[in-house]
Amino acid sequence: MSDDKPTAPHFGAIIGAGVPRIDGPDKLSGRAHYAADQQPAGLVYGYGVFSTIASGKVSQLSVARARQMPGVIEIFHHGHFPKLYRSPSSFAQGNKVEETRLPFEDERIYYAGQFVALVVADTFENARAAAREVEVSYAEDHALANLDQGVAAHGTRAGRGDHSRGDAAAAFDSAAQRIDVTYRTPVETHNPMEMHASTAWWERDHLTIFDASQGVVMARNALSKIFAIPPERVTVHAPYIGSGFGSKLWTWPHAVATAAAARELGRPVQLVVPRAQMFTTTGHRPETRQRLRLATDGNGKLVSLRHESINTTSFTDQYVETCGSVTKSLYSCPHLTVSHATTQVNRGTPTSMRAPGAAPGLFALESAVDEMAVAVGADPLAFRLDNYAERDESQDLAFSSNHIVEATQRAAERFGWDERSAEIGSMRQGREIVGYGMAACNWEALKRPCDARVSLRADGTALASCATQDIGTGTYTIVAQAVSDLTGLPLERITVELGDSSYPDGPVSGGSWATATTLPAIAKAARVALDEMKRYATGANGAFAGVASDELEVAEGGLRNTDGKQVSFADILGAARYGSADGEAHTEGADAQYSYRSFGAHFVEVRWDPGISHLRVARVVSAIDVGRVINETTARNQVEGAIVMGVGMGLFEATEYDARNGRPVNNDYAEYVVPVHADQPEVDVILLDYPDTRFNEYGARGIGEIGITGLAAAVANAVYHATGKRIRELPITLDKLM
Ligand code: MOS
Repeated sequence: MSDDKPTAPHFGAIIGAGVPRIDGPDKLSGRAHYAADQQPAGLVYGYGVFSTIASGKVSQLSVARARQMPGVIEIFHHGHFPKLYRSPSSFAQGNKVEETRLPFEDERIYYAGQFVALVVADTFENARAAAREVEVSYAEDHALANLDQGVAAHGTRAGRGDHSRGDAAAAFDSAAQRIDVTYRTPVETHNPMEMHASTAWWERDHLTIFDASQGVVMARNALSKIFAIPPERVTVHAPYIGSGFGSKLWTWPHAVATAAAARELGRPVQLVVPRAQMFTTTGHRPETRQRLRLATDGNGKLVSLRHESINTTSFTDQYVETCGSVTKSLYSCPHLTVSHATTQVNRGTPTSMRAPGAAPGLFALESAVDEMAVAVGADPLAFRLDNYAERDESQDLAFSSNHIVEATQRAAERFGWDERSAEIGSMRQGREIVGYGMAACNWEALKRPCDARVSLRADGTALASCATQDIGTGTYTIVAQAVSDLTGLPLERITVELGDSSYPDGPVSGGSWATATTLPAIAKAARVALDEMKRYATGANGAFAGVASDELEVAEGGLRNTDGKQVSFADILGAARYGSADGEAHTEGADAQYSYRSFGAHFVEVRWDPGISHLRVARVVSAIDVGRVINETTARNQVEGAIVMGVGMGLFEATEYDARNGRPVNNDYAEYVVPVHADQPEVDVILLDYPDTRFNEYGARGIGEIGITGLAAAVANAVYHATGKRIRELPITLDKLM
């Protein structure tokens, strides 16, 4: 049960305002130090040696030549590495890792780009040069290079997150209209701007590590298991992160190897994962194959829906991409099944990538819904409005707040959907054929347990602390906004501390739940601090001695009584001779009374020039219902960024593997194609801003992920409208249109 239901929620204008990021100046001026910017005294540098084969084992590893290289301090590998322990990898226990195999644990090679050795030297350049002199020979086995090869070789294993209601097969067989279509999505790689990096050192038996991490508490607990020391003896710092998109949610082998090397050498070690290995050893979105079977009755109502998904996973771990997670509840349908399965291939362990499950899942579902609408001769927009669910039929629960109809209608109007002529290729402008497509977007809203601390200090400032992170999304800023709103202090007198596992336990920056989780805990802690302040003010030497606490109200960084006398927090603390008034608080996760989700719709215009075979996304209008918007600027920025990423997913992104040997082909920034400025569409984002106070007192559901869901389907549907070609395999590259 939630223990933080609103007492009398009222928010000032700073909640929702487009306040610029308070960490912006530090980032722009270089004062923000990231994991690889740490320079502790005596620092030495690691560089990995990575497997060049995808399957087999190391048959011989010789460090003789490498050891002669300048500056080399030590070379670690399977035959020379300390004993470590596995983390139970439990999300519930807060110690999840995605790749559970420990670095150098055995001689086996499960994927290309796996660590086989770690060279430590006095400089980065010397470590890298020596790493190239480590001689490794392999006994290579046949590699399973892709999903089809995996399924052919050993079939599939059951995943998780399945759901079934009614009798989907029988309803399908007796329906008026049916479609049965299969979609595919490739491996995509997160590619955050900041490389994965760790700087680690030990003082006696205490590990300190600066790690590019979306979850310092999770990393602390995992490292405590791996090194078999109490969590209090591990401190994980991630004050700034150059984004992550999910790739930095969990501790990866390089961080473990760095911490172990630092302990062995008794000095600080820093390791940066090269860009090429950020495609192999720090997770990726797996390849999927998804079969969709939909059927409608004579009135165009969905009567049967089946979504069967298979994704690739590694030989070391079972990662399930829950592609049917949204399918369960987006549309009203009495007969529905969703199933997930995996197949093992010779790739590294996949991981959550922005809107895991929903991003590839909604490409398939929202493409299939478009195909179904075409099959029944309905407008895709009208078809959706006719079929959207009014309650969550998968859990038999009401949605806490759902404005998908309004979102869809407002975006349609802004976009000009009613100017669309349904006939394929019928809209032209000059040499270009114009295509209009749309799709729904959807993401679950989650809220986790959280601790936080707020101090109101004698110097007139406030300090708010929580062991969550700001991965570039604006968490520092929204925490300061919440503290300012409750205390009346201006933003410049509020310091926010995040990204340090020694602060009160906070959530991972993931799942779009950091805002919904952190702000209620911050607010509760601030109220405890304000109560403390009132006690000091009304005490014997207090500025309001003799006044009842409940006659005092918070005003502009101080307290005011009913006569209008106002005293600042600083003066209250000064009079009472206290250094600070402090509050600590714990808040619980969301209760199970409602189904909590965010909703929206994307409308996309593509331009296809058949003369020169040029396809572009020209325009996107999206309306998003994420509950209350805490910061207009950072929220809009999240959706705009997700739309850009969705354009990449739709048109460009695919990590390719050689079908003969499983080796990655384009694991670099030159050949892994992402959208550049020339690819940017005109983007117009409508934020609906209906507070969902059943979810938390702020009514905010989170906004990081929903924007990418459905976007690739809207692009594909627009491409169909322009060209008549139904592209069921991402990305929509030109060869598929010719
Ligand atoms: Mo997100 S994939 O939960 O960082």
